[in-house]
Amino acid sequence: MTYQDLRAEAISRLTQSGGRGVLRFLTCGSVDDGKSTLIGRLLYDSKLLFEDQLNVLERDSKKHGTTGEDIDFALLLDGLEAEREQGITIDVAYRFFATEKRKFVVADTPGHEQYTRNMATGASTADVAVILIDARKGVLVQTLRHTYIARMMGIRHVVLAVNKMDLANRSSSRFHEIVAEYLKSAEELGFESITPIPMSARYGDNVTQRAEDMDWYKGPTLLEHLEELDISGDLDDEAFRMPVQWVNRPNLNFRGYSGLVVSGTVRPGDAIVVAGSGTAANVERVVTADGDLDVARAGDSVTLVLNHEIDISRGDVIASAEQRPEVSDQFAAEVLWMNEEELLPGRSYLLKIGSATTPATVSALKHKVDINTYEKQPSTKLEMNEIGMCNIACTRPVAFDPYHQIRDMGAFILVDRFTNQTVGAGMIRFGLRRASNIHQHAMDVTKEQRAQTKGQKPAILWFTGLSGAGKSTVANIVERKLTEAGLHTYSLDGDNVRHGLNRDLGFTDVDRVENIRRIGEVAKLFVDAGLIVTCSFISPFRSERQMVRELVDEGEFIEVFVDTPLEVCIERDPKGLYKKAQAGEIKNFTGFDSPYEAPEDPEVRVDTTSIPAEEAADQVIATLKKRGLLG
Ligand code: ADX
Repeated sequence: MTYQDLRAEAISRLTQSGGRGVLRFLTCGSVDDGKSTLIGRLLYDSKLLFEDQLNVLERDSKKHGTTGEDIDFALLLDGLEAEREQGITIDVAYRFFATEKRKFVVADTPGHEQYTRNMATGASTADVAVILIDARKGVLVQTLRHTYIARMMGIRHVVLAVNKMDLANRSSSRFHEIVAEYLKSAEELGFESITPIPMSARYGDNVTQRAEDMDWYKGPTLLEHLEELDISGDLDDEAFRMPVQWVNRPNLNFRGYSGLVVSGTVRPGDAIVVAGSGTAANVERVVTADGDLDVARAGDSVTLVLNHEIDISRGDVIASAEQRPEVSDQFAAEVLWMNEEELLPGRSYLLKIGSATTPATVSALKHKVDINTYEKQPSTKLEMNEIGMCNIACTRPVAFDPYHQIRDMGAFILVDRFTNQTVGAGMIRFGLRRASNIHQHAMDVTKEQRAQTKGQKPAILWFTGLSGAGKSTVANIVERKLTEAGLHTYSLDGDNVRHGLNRDLGFTDVDRVENIRRIGEVAKLFVDAGLIVTCSFISPFRSERQMVRELVDEGEFIEVFVDTPLEVCIERDPKGLYKKAQAGEIKNFTGFDSPYEAPEDPEVRVDTTSIPAEEAADQVIATLKKRGLLG
């Protein structure tokens, strides 16, 4: 048989159903550990390479290979890697192969510096993690990190691939030493199976063929193990959940709710509820592009038609009426941070779970996890690749199940609001009861009435700029003028608030975020009281200014950028602080060793270097008039 025949046969295997179904796995380890060689070997031995790839491989192996006349499998993957690099955005490549017993999907993650993020993406859909170890190097920090992430992402089976045994004399004692060390840490993570296999991917030993010169090893080869592994933690038995992607209403006679079933089954006649509102209905039809189904299972994309119309929108979860998910705006979760900029408790990120998106903050960082020992350590922030136990507070309640119960209902990502990048991945451990027992109390007197009796429109005038820019000076004049005009005001000022409400806070990034979060909440209360409140704070970060903006209604937040250059502030130095900062007596001073992110599109920008403060205040007041906040 030619290679082409073999490949045709292999492809036909891939397209047939049956056998043990699909197994998804992920290989973790750096290129040096033999990851590429291992995947290359599996693909090659399952005859699923394209012939042209094979020709190139044979040619390249002779030319650049490190394996003499043999085929260098690492080159195959390197070739694919280069191919992928041109595409730039692909983080994880999925490769398919099949044997007579099973089909496989391998998540192949490139090994550059964003590795953790890619690994987490690959792991989120995998059944098995193959953790590669170089037998000469043994268990490394990254081995434990990858193991932890795999566990966090809900993977229940691990293969410990102790590779390069040929370079460690194929020694049984070295193998057992590594396994013992690994198990010491990994055992407590609660995997269903950990299967150590000594191998040499380069020679195919114990990958697809039994290694003759390691006859002390009596277990399966990697491929045998992957073929036989039972992963049927059956999703059919779990509660029915379907996050709604969209409401399908092509004409007046049809209304259906479309989404992906993430767990359980749904049949016509089933009683369902909308999580959150608790509105109930019965399923009438389960519609797909290929016709109606008697039953839909996890992984099916369907449109449900109900027996009567109910209020549902994108982001809602349709669930079994008997087994409902939790609904809360606060929960405890494990978070893996994947961004160069650290996670700051109090900062607002976008949390995406299922088809829902809501702003959310980490309200408390309980501890971070030491990746070497899996021990808990106190911390105020999370840096790239760190994992922490956090309390999360969302702006809106979300429906979820704890991650260990239903993986797709408990996993979320955090997205940076400005860059739109995924910065964290999280797993919900449990909902926080305290949130579900606190309800907003409806008041008889409303914000509008409070403002009306004062004859004004409430607003936040948010002055931002460097220390010494003139924020307080201008704000003070604005307040005076408003009061003289008979309006009701209040003023919050950095130096004053830091003596009271925020006296426990300093000037680290974390503390500045918390400073503005608290002030934002207080300013919102003043707006609720119907007042015009001036706030003068350096407020160096865009994220937090945006967060305050979103706390109040559209048009109620006026950002005033007091745009005084650093040189002028240094020159003025009204409190002598710049002198101290220059002398190194004050740390984290804005403009020196702490950043200031200038507003991109403020409602007002005032330049105190060219006009007197009095005039700057008039500009602010003119803006209020223009925007209809003043009569
Ligand atoms: S913010 O960055 O958290 O918004 P805030 O406006 O409350 O700062 O407080 C700034 C004031 O604190 C400055 O005007 C200055 O008087 C004083 N200050 C003391 N140390 C620092 C520092 N390291 N950086 C900036 N301001 C400081």
